[in-house]
Amino acid sequence: MTGAASTQKKVKIGLLLPYSGTYGMLGTSVDRGIRLAIEQRGSKLGGRDVEFVVVNSEANPGKAVSNMQKLISAEKVDFVVGPIHSGVAMAALKVARQTGTILVIPNAGLNVATRELCAPNIFRTSFSNWQPNYAMAKPAYDQGYRRIVTISWRYAAGTEHLGGFEEEFKRHGGQIVKQILVPFPSVDFQTYLTEIASIKPDAVYTFFGGGGAVKFIQDYADAGLKGKIPLLSTGFLTESLEGLGNRADGIRTTLHYADDLDNKYNIAFRKAFKDRYNDEAGVYAVQGYDSGLLLIRAMEAVKGDTSNQAALIEAMRKVKFQDSPRGPWTMSKAHNPIQNIYMSEVRGGKNVMVGTAAKALDDPATGCKMAK
Ligand code: PHB
Repeated sequence: MTGAASTQKKVKIGLLLPYSGTYGMLGTSVDRGIRLAIEQRGSKLGGRDVEFVVVNSEANPGKAVSNMQKLISAEKVDFVVGPIHSGVAMAALKVARQTGTILVIPNAGLNVATRELCAPNIFRTSFSNWQPNYAMAKPAYDQGYRRIVTISWRYAAGTEHLGGFEEEFKRHGGQIVKQILVPFPSVDFQTYLTEIASIKPDAVYTFFGGGGAVKFIQDYADAGLKGKIPLLSTGFLTESLEGLGNRADGIRTTLHYADDLDNKYNIAFRKAFKDRYNDEAGVYAVQGYDSGLLLIRAMEAVKGDTSNQAALIEAMRKVKFQDSPRGPWTMSKAHNPIQNIYMSEVRGGKNVMVGTAAKALDDPATGCKMAK
C-alpha cells in the first residue's frame, strides 16, 4: 500500500487480552484504558478512524500463536496490543519477531521481551517483572527482615517476580528460607499457608494477580497469618480490595503506580475513567491508557502513515509520557518504561502511598542489542 492509501483506511488495532478467568479483570481494564485514551482524542489515530479487533487470549499460552496469526494474517491489524500473561507473551513475541508486526505489551512483564528478545517492533508500556520486585528488596531488609518465604504461581511471571526480589534481598544479606510455587491458575493455598505457619519466617514475599490475588489475601488472613507474619508484594496483589474488609490491612507493596498519586494527570484520569465506566481505575487501566497515548502520539507524528514502518517505530521511540497518570516516564532504548516505583500500604481497606522506593528505575536490559 502506498503512503496515501495507507492514510485513508481505518487503523486496525488487535487486542489480545484475557476477558475471562483469573486475569479477566486485567484484560478488561487494559481494554477500557486504551479506548478511553483514544476516545478522548476524537477516536482517531493520526487522522484515521480506528477499528478494534478483540481476541480473548484466555491467558492461555497454548492458544497464543494461533490467536496472533488470526490477528495478523486474517485480520491484517496494524498493531497488536497485548498480552497480559508472560507465557502468552513468550509466544506472541516469537510471532511478532517473525512477522515484523508492531506489538505493544500493555502488561506482561516477561523479562526477555526487553532483554534478549528485544526488537525494534516490540514495545512495552507496563514494566519488566524485575522492576517492581527489585525495588522491594532493600526496604524489606531495612525493615529488619532476614528470613523470608516466597510464594507465587509456577510460570514465568511468578518465578521472575520472586527472582527479582530474591536476588536483591540476598545481595543485601537476607535469606530465602523457602520458595513455594503453585500451579497456575490454582487458588488452593491452604496447605502452603500451613507450611508457612510452621516455618515462621520474618516475612512472606508473594506475587499473585487478578482473582488469585484476592483469594490469597483472604486465605492468608483466614489462616491466622495476618498480623503475625508481615506480607510483602507488588501492588498487583492489592489491586482489588473489594469485599476483603480489613483482611488486607498492613500489606506493603511496590509498584509503578499508586491509586492516590497526587498529580493532576492522575486525578483527571481517574475521574474520566469513573465517569466513562462507573468503576475505579487501577494500574492495568493506566497501562492501557498509556498504550493509547503511545499510539496516538506516534501516529500523529507520522500523520497516520503506517506504510513507512521505520518512521513509525522511530516516532514510537520518541514519545514522551510526561502526562501519564503514573507520573512522568520515558521509553528506554530496549523499549521498556524507565519509571518511578512507589511504596504503598493497605490501611483501613485502602491502598495508601507511603513513599517512593525507586526513582526513574530502568531495567538492566541484559542481552538487548538495541540498548547498547
Ligand atoms: C504476567 O504474566 O506477566 C503478569 C500477570 C499479571 C500481573 C503482572 C504480570 O499482575
